[in-house]
Amino acid sequence: MSTIIGIDLGTSTTEAAVIRDGKPVMIVNPEKEIITPSAVGLDTSGNWVVGERARAQYLLSPENTAIEVKRKIGTDEEIKLGRQAYTPVKLSAKLLEYVRNYASEFLGEEVTRAVISVPAYFDEIQRQATVRAGMEAGLQVERIINEPTAAALSYGLEHMEEESHVLVYDLGGGTFDVTLLEMFDGVLEVKASNGDNKLGGKDFDEKLMLWLNEQFMNKHNVDLRKDTYAMVKLKEEAERCKKVLSTQPSCHVSVPMIIEKNGAPLALDEEVTAERFEEITRELIERTHQPIDVVLADSGVLPSEIDRVILVGGSTRMPIVAKDIQEYLNILPSQAVNPDYAVAEGAAIQAGMIQGSIRPEEGIVMTDVNPYTLGIRVMDEMTDDRMSVVIPRNVTIPTTRSQIYYTSWDDQTVAHIEVYQGESSIASSNHFLGDFAVGGIPFGKAGKEKIGVQFSYDLNGMLDVKASILSTGKEASIEINMLENKTSQNNRIDVSNWKESPIARQFRTAVRRGEKALKDPKIQYEPFLEEEIEECLYYLKEALVEENLEAALEAEEDLMEVLSDLE
Ligand SMILES: Nc1ncnc2c1ncn2[C@@H]1O[C@H](COP(=O)(O)OP(=O)(O)OP(=O)(O)O)[C@@H](O)[C@H]1O
Ligand SMILES: [Mg+2]
Repeated sequence: MSTIIGIDLGTSTTEAAVIRDGKPVMIVNPEKEIITPSAVGLDTSGNWVVGERARAQYLLSPENTAIEVKRKIGTDEEIKLGRQAYTPVKLSAKLLEYVRNYASEFLGEEVTRAVISVPAYFDEIQRQATVRAGMEAGLQVERIINEPTAAALSYGLEHMEEESHVLVYDLGGGTFDVTLLEMFDGVLEVKASNGDNKLGGKDFDEKLMLWLNEQFMNKHNVDLRKDTYAMVKLKEEAERCKKVLSTQPSCHVSVPMIIEKNGAPLALDEEVTAERFEEITRELIERTHQPIDVVLADSGVLPSEIDRVILVGGSTRMPIVAKDIQEYLNILPSQAVNPDYAVAEGAAIQAGMIQGSIRPEEGIVMTDVNPYTLGIRVMDEMTDDRMSVVIPRNVTIPTTRSQIYYTSWDDQTVAHIEVYQGESSIASSNHFLGDFAVGGIPFGKAGKEKIGVQFSYDLNGMLDVKASILSTGKEASIEINMLENKTSQNNRIDVSNWKESPIARQFRTAVRRGEKALKDPKIQYEPFLEEEIEECLYYLKEALVEENLEAALEAEEDLMEVLSDLE
């Protein structure tokens, strides 16, 4: 069986790891480095350059190089390299292909399978885009794992005997994630996860750039933002300065010829103190508090009950991070994992668990949480577009939850189930995942018949939604693959050959009336009527194909009843 590797596909940097003798080992790239810059570009001859070479090229020709692609993944915003535009998926695929190649070299075998980590706060569209990037890079994506969960796994592998609440604080290049886990008896349970997918080291760089530019404008009355080269230089310097300030009290920023004014070169020359840097980035650090509060509230854990804070992500090297955590939560973060490697290591541990190279008895039982609320669209007195929650956000998965619903109007024969993901109370404002219908509801007054809806969500990202009419036991279901957004309707047969049924003849008129009604423009003004007719038609045709006369007569009656609504 081919080896599954773990990949931390980051905004700024990318790392990969693999399990050797039950422990994660970081994979080294062709530059003999473990950390690969997440940069992709085209060189002057139009060849792809990736990693360190692309990062270096960015300084010279930013127009041919892409950085921080992860911030755009899942959107249809294209990224230009020269004159050609590329999708974020395509560029991420180039990066992953590079990783796949050096991992193959490192392992001495063709690598074709991977576990890839994503921020816990990525939505399904971003996750699916990441899976597609993996596929385009020739990798079968065995699992998408949340980055903080991965980091906790890498911590957990060495600390299984502990019983504690662990807070993972991950401040990377582009995203901030905070996750609360509970460890006991070898079980690592994710209690809650939250974050800000627009907060990371990059924003600290930008604050400093802005400040440096203000100083420059005051002195020279020239705005560096007009000039691409100056901005690239400024960004490079700002990031370097930020890193220096993680260990030094001050840093000198100096670029001799950053821009020209009236033909004469101007220099950027500024002293930045750690104090000043903290002051101009305080607002960013404060933005970490809200996700922390949400995680504590959602998990029902008090700050005093947190036993350990684990720092992950390059940006946690900024001293202000530990200082702020100590002030805000009154706990000193521990240096228990390597902030640059923990996520890739955890992804590799997950890969090892799938592969069996980490055996359950020495390994860890793991759970995760679903990051977004899952539910269905329902009607109430006010609206027909209310989101009814079935699995709330931050519930531990795997999980199965059910709800009972009632028929909404007299003689409703079909329940149409639309599945949504998101936090809005208006269903259609959320992300639509799939729909199906269950028919054959016996006639009766509104509210008389009960419909049970059950959601089962597992760690492989499969969401199973089942609906059943409680009085008759009639069921229908849908399986939504949250990783690929492929849905498959179950319990459905091909009814296209219904005409060939020996009992078709006496029902032809009914089918024809149903199909004609679907083309009637009036149908749009009646809620759910179109779906009801479609469903009744399906059940009638199904009965015909199955040569079940009794069921066909019943379905015909339902259909006629529904059609009478249109008149
Ligand atoms: N010594 C340091 N001091 C301050 N910041 C640092 C230091 N080293 C790295 N960084 C910052 O850490 C960020 C990169 O961190 P990391 O590699 O963990 O992010 P990532 O995994 O690529 O991003 P994400 O997890 O958000 O997708 C960059 O913004 C970088 O400037
Ligand atoms: Mg990261």
